[in-house]
Amino acid sequence: MIIYHLSTECYPVAKVGGLADVVGALPKYQNKSKGVDAKVVMPWYNKPFVSDHKFDIVFDGFIHQGPNMLQVQVLKEKSDTLGFELYLVRIPGLLDRDNPYGYQDENFQFLGFQHGVLHWLSAMEIRPDVLHCHDYHTGLAPFMVEHCHEFSFLKGVKTIGTIHNGEYQGMMSWEMARYMPSFDPYKWGLMDWNGLINPLASMIKCSHAFTTVSQGYLEELFVNFKGLENLVRYESGKAHGIINGIDTEVWNPETDPMLDFNFSQQDVIVQKKKNKQNICKEYGLRPELPLFAFIGRFATEKGADLLPDIVQRSIKQSFGALNIMILGSGNPYIENKLKEYDYTYSNFALDLGYKEHLSHQIYASADFLLMPSRVEPCGLNQMYSMKYGTVPVVSYTGGLRDTVKDISTGGAGINFTYPGADDVIHAMNRALMVYNQKGLMENLIQANMSFDFAWEKSAEKYIALYMS
Ligand code: ADP
Ligand code: GLC
Repeated sequence: MIIYHLSTECYPVAKVGGLADVVGALPKYQNKSKGVDAKVVMPWYNKPFVSDHKFDIVFDGFIHQGPNMLQVQVLKEKSDTLGFELYLVRIPGLLDRDNPYGYQDENFQFLGFQHGVLHWLSAMEIRPDVLHCHDYHTGLAPFMVEHCHEFSFLKGVKTIGTIHNGEYQGMMSWEMARYMPSFDPYKWGLMDWNGLINPLASMIKCSHAFTTVSQGYLEELFVNFKGLENLVRYESGKAHGIINGIDTEVWNPETDPMLDFNFSQQDVIVQKKKNKQNICKEYGLRPELPLFAFIGRFATEKGADLLPDIVQRSIKQSFGALNIMILGSGNPYIENKLKEYDYTYSNFALDLGYKEHLSHQIYASADFLLMPSRVEPCGLNQMYSMKYGTVPVVSYTGGLRDTVKDISTGGAGINFTYPGADDVIHAMNRALMVYNQKGLMENLIQANMSFDFAWEKSAEKYIALYMS
């Protein structure tokens, strides 16, 4: 069975968030199954991975995007060390950028990517068994396969769409239709939602099956999906919630080369302390106090707007009896407020930016990981933290609901229902009580490290879905 994953991110080539982690791991684990050949196709980026690796040009052609004729090149990575074949689609001016997102003309960028991939596959007469599309950036591909004249060779190919984040749907005006490959005009309704082209809605309508990255999130979409609630209910017969896993070849505290001190369940208490000591020394924190950490994008869906309040109030209310460390970037208001508190409070450390290496070191050092998410389709941070012996303190939503159970119900984490500063601080107080009972804290660390979030089971579920 030949599967092509289409995605704008893939670790270690280009990563903005969890989408990259999933697309960098899922195909690798799928390829462990007999008879499965999963590959990844993504845009070309100006990234170190790309300049450090060798590629063969396997396709060189042209597409028409409205009146513009664009060159499309497909490059295949030569060394094949990722555990799957990697293909990069390069379109000068559109798909040759430094980063996946943040450009004014992203509609053209993502249309160009989908058009380029399908043009290459059709022109070279490559007919996959499954095209697996990830998020709205590739959400129009299932429609295009079926209804664009140019890709008639691909008609009937099975398509799967995975919703990693329904907050982003990629809506655009119908003006953009003239930049798409020409399609059967009678089928326009399959792209439309409320008078706009909505790629995520189109993915739900046109794919043979669609998935969310947890069962909990799927249930939430039925009642809260930015206007697509009725659509997802109507199409619920082809909906499947499949929880993400973690790539234990990358995220393993015993072997992770990004850690100062590696550890297993046997020596976690001693080694974690050493990691904590290093990080506290570097950031001017006090290693004898509990360390709460937040890692992530400063977006309201992550509850990042609550962070300044949480930092200020928790430090004041505990009379400075805890440390908080934040790694992330995003909303400038949040960044500035946190910078101010970084100067004000010696118990608080801030690192603005995206730092893969530091994130691993934080998971291995912190006592608690804070996730006050309002929306969390799956969430990988809590799973990494658990694997690294850090107790998750998380809101009860989406994938967090499916992966973290509260200590009061026999679980090894701390939940709070409403992501507001009061509830988060109450949850932090509960965490402090746990921290002060050495035996209990050590048991929780062990219990968290024992959870099995390996990809194998979920990779098999996707394969079963393809087979069906
Ligand atoms: P999302 O994809 O919504 O941002 P996830 O929990 O699925 O959330 O995945 C986030 C991923 O990005 C994790 O691998 C996390 O460690 C990583 N990450 C987020 N922010 C940063 C940062 N500032 N520096 C390093 N890694 C980060
Ligand atoms: C999205 C979601 C996150 C999920 C990730 C990978 O970025 O916000 O919750 O873990 O995709 O599926």
